[in-house]
Amino acid sequence: MYVVKTCATCTMDLTIFLFVSTFVLSDAVSMKRKAYFNGTAYLPCPFTKAQNITLSELVVFWQDQQKLVLYEHYLGAEKLDSVNAKYLGRTSFDGDNWTLRLHHVRIEDMGSYDCFIQGKPPTGSVILQQTSTELSVIANFSEPEILLTQNVTRNSGTNLTCSSKQGYPKPKKMYFLITNSTDEYGDDMQISQDNVTELFSVSVSLSHLFPDGVDNMTIVCVLEMESTNISSKPVILVLPEFHPIGNHLIEISAGIIIVILFPVVFIVAKTCCKKPGRPRNTTCTSKRDSSADRRSSINLEELEPQIASAKPNAE
Ligand SMILES: *[C@@H]1O[C@H](CO)[C@@H](O)[C@H](O)[C@H]1NC(C)=O
Ligand SMILES: *[C@@H]1O[C@H](CO)[C@@H](O)[C@H](O)[C@H]1NC(C)=O
Ligand SMILES: *[C@@H]1O[C@H](CO)[C@@H](O)[C@H](O)[C@H]1NC(C)=O
Ligand SMILES: *[C@@H]1O[C@H](CO)[C@@H](O)[C@H](O)[C@H]1NC(C)=O
Ligand SMILES: *[C@@H]1O[C@H](CO)[C@@H](O)[C@H](O)[C@H]1NC(C)=O
Ligand SMILES: *[C@@H]1O[C@H](CO)[C@@H](O)[C@H](O)[C@H]1NC(C)=O
Ligand SMILES: *[C@@H]1O[C@H](CO)[C@@H](O)[C@H](O)[C@H]1NC(C)=O
Ligand SMILES: *[C@@H]1O[C@H](CO)[C@@H](O)[C@H](O)[C@H]1NC(C)=O
Repeated sequence: MYVVKTCATCTMDLTIFLFVSTFVLSDAVSMKRKAYFNGTAYLPCPFTKAQNITLSELVVFWQDQQKLVLYEHYLGAEKLDSVNAKYLGRTSFDGDNWTLRLHHVRIEDMGSYDCFIQGKPPTGSVILQQTSTELSVIANFSEPEILLTQNVTRNSGTNLTCSSKQGYPKPKKMYFLITNSTDEYGDDMQISQDNVTELFSVSVSLSHLFPDGVDNMTIVCVLEMESTNISSKPVILVLPEFHPIGNHLIEISAGIIIVILFPVVFIVAKTCCKKPGRPRNTTCTSKRDSSADRRSSINLEELEPQIASAKPNAE
């Protein structure tokens, strides 16, 4: 128990040790790692100095930059005594490549971590190797989404907002692109930060008139970050005009007339072929074959008595 305590409080030992031995200092390995918010961070601790020594002969532990212990592997077994409450239940150790996994990564986990490998106590307390990892945390912003806050008209133009949520780090800017122009539009960019998750949400608004002679615009919203941009789906705004609607009305009416009248004509024509007591098919084909030219006049003559006789039966 006494020796273990040395490990937990080895910050002090280490500081002294580093001052004493420049050998270890120059030997410290430093790496950079990225992790996704709520994902897993990998904090490696490669033991390159003596392949021969196994975990059961060593003390391996990780500390954050406040010297809080994340995890300790003591002579081949996990040891929780010195682990800070903040990290309890959030870590797992991969004994194959000596990597500590930190789960459910938070924004506040960003920073530097040190892994120490110590020799077996009581000769221990000597740091055999130290590895520093600089951890950065990122979260992907949601795809920017354009919302119309007002219906489009010639006089008022259009009012839009674009928003994107839950990203990290803070984006550089957000703007609209209109049709073929490379100009960036939009004002009033708002960035808010969730006080629990520390993630950012961003929105921008646009009030824009249709230029004369232009009756449609394609609008895209762009979120610009340090290394990449994310674009929204394009929104096509079309001015509602009277004339196109008028033309459509004529087309629609014509369509309705055709759709309604055609079956009526068809049914009427088909009814002509019907004769009571006889199968439909034979009647029609025989009639068509024998007297195709006179069909319409004959059918019309037959139609009236047929309907007249059919009606009382139906009711
Ligand atoms: C983190 O991920 C878990 C599932 O793995 C999910 O249930 C939880 O809501 C996520 N938390 C946040 C803050 O996104
Ligand atoms: C392991 O260490 C021993 C001494 O402790 C040495 O004799 C041996 O050669 C080493 N083996 C390897 C594979 O490094
Ligand atoms: C460690 O090894 C495991 C498989 O044994 C692998 O899934 C993981 O990605 C490795 N981690 C690193 C940081 O190399
Ligand atoms: C985040 O975005 C990058 C690039 O667009 C993508 O490769 C990655 O899979 C995304 N990760 C998550 C966790 O959404
Ligand atoms: C837009 O117009 C539709 C009907 O054309 C109406 O129901 C809706 O309320 C309007 N929206 C706004 C924001 O004025
Ligand atoms: C936008 O560009 C396309 C082809 O690149 C062109 O046909 C169109 O007329 C342009 N629109 C405007 C409004 O300049
Ligand atoms: C987050 O901020 C809001 C208002 O700014 C506040 O009402 C809320 O209590 C805060 N939540 C936490 C967990 O601090
Ligand atoms: C559209 O935006 C302009 C400028 O921000 C504002 O003056 C106008 O009242 C807005 N219209 C509506 C219907 O919100």
